Amino acid sequence: MDLAVNLAPRHPKGLWLTNSVMTSAGTFGADGYGAGLPEGFPLNDLGAVVMKTTTPHSRQGNPEPQLAQLPAGWLNSIGLANPGIEAVIREKAPLWASWPVPVILSIAGERVEEFQELARRVEGTLGIAALEVNVSCPNVEGGLEFGQRPELAAEVTHRVRQVTSLPVIVKLTPNVTDIVEVARAVEAAGADALTLINTVVGMGIDPTTRRPFIGNVLGGLSGPAMKPVALAAVYRVAKVVRVPIIGVGGIVTGADAMEFFLAGASAVQVGSAALGRPQVYLRVLAGIVEAMESQGVQELSQIIGALQT
Ligand SMILES: Cc1cc2nc3c(=O)[nH]c(=O)nc-3n(C[C@H](O)[C@H](O)[C@H](O)COP(=O)(O)O)c2cc1C
Repeated sequence: MDLAVNLAPRHPKGLWLTNSVMTSAGTFGADGYGAGLPEGFPLNDLGAVVMKTTTPHSRQGNPEPQLAQLPAGWLNSIGLANPGIEAVIREKAPLWASWPVPVILSIAGERVEEFQELARRVEGTLGIAALEVNVSCPNVEGGLEFGQRPELAAEVTHRVRQVTSLPVIVKLTPNVTDIVEVARAVEAAGADALTLINTVVGMGIDPTTRRPFIGNVLGGLSGPAMKPVALAAVYRVAKVVRVPIIGVGGIVTGADAMEFFLAGASAVQVGSAALGRPQVYLRVLAGIVEAMESQGVQELSQIIGALQT
């Protein structure tokens, strides 16, 4: 059975994965960088791992509580807490270089120039196979998130593209009027692939205490509750872009992943479902293999975008 996929066909080096199951940014291991995985965890069974979004300087993150479980998902407002790019390159990347799986670093800045600086800083670092540009963070100069304005998302993509030799994946936010417009702009600016989608803005309130579930009041909804939103985004964007799409949002089983492939995704990421339960990645992969076997499908490419309408 052939599960291999090239997520950057228009990049000279490509970005080849042995299978299409990836981790999602911020959810891999206890710290988002793969800490505390069980001894002997088979990293080589993953297609790729995406590390937590890293910013130019360390960030404390938002007030507690940062994560709340809901009946069909999670709310989080981590606030991009991370140790900063220098610490990540010095302390974490050397280990990744020895891992039997491609590592993708998620980056975010508060200004367009900061994205470019991050990409420049990463250049030449062993152990990083690609960048995932997280445009779902506020632009301090303009207020809105970078990914909420097509021209700004495109500018970030272009500036990163200018200074990196790595494949550039851009991860889009669903909190926009028309995600298709942003996807088009980012593709035209040089993105090698798109990750769809980041969390959906949401909130929850405890009516007894009258307090919000999340310290920051507003958070990002993830998990099964958001899967239909993510699938619709993948489906709509896949119709208009040529670059590969990585689907993410509410994937818990192989069947969930199959839905994303049928909608047009070439790979999937598993986020909240794997928080504290890394076996979920392996179960999703096993479920995909099982589904392909039962349908007599030999190559994943036969399923991508094969939705019957
Ligand atoms: C605890 C937590 C932390 C996250 N941190 C990041 C992050 O650093 N960067 C990012 O692009 N997305 C981040 N996300 C969003 C996920 O990568 C993913 O896009 C989203 O949760 C939807 O997938 P899921 O339903 O499988 O969780 C985070 C999500 C959670 C739940």
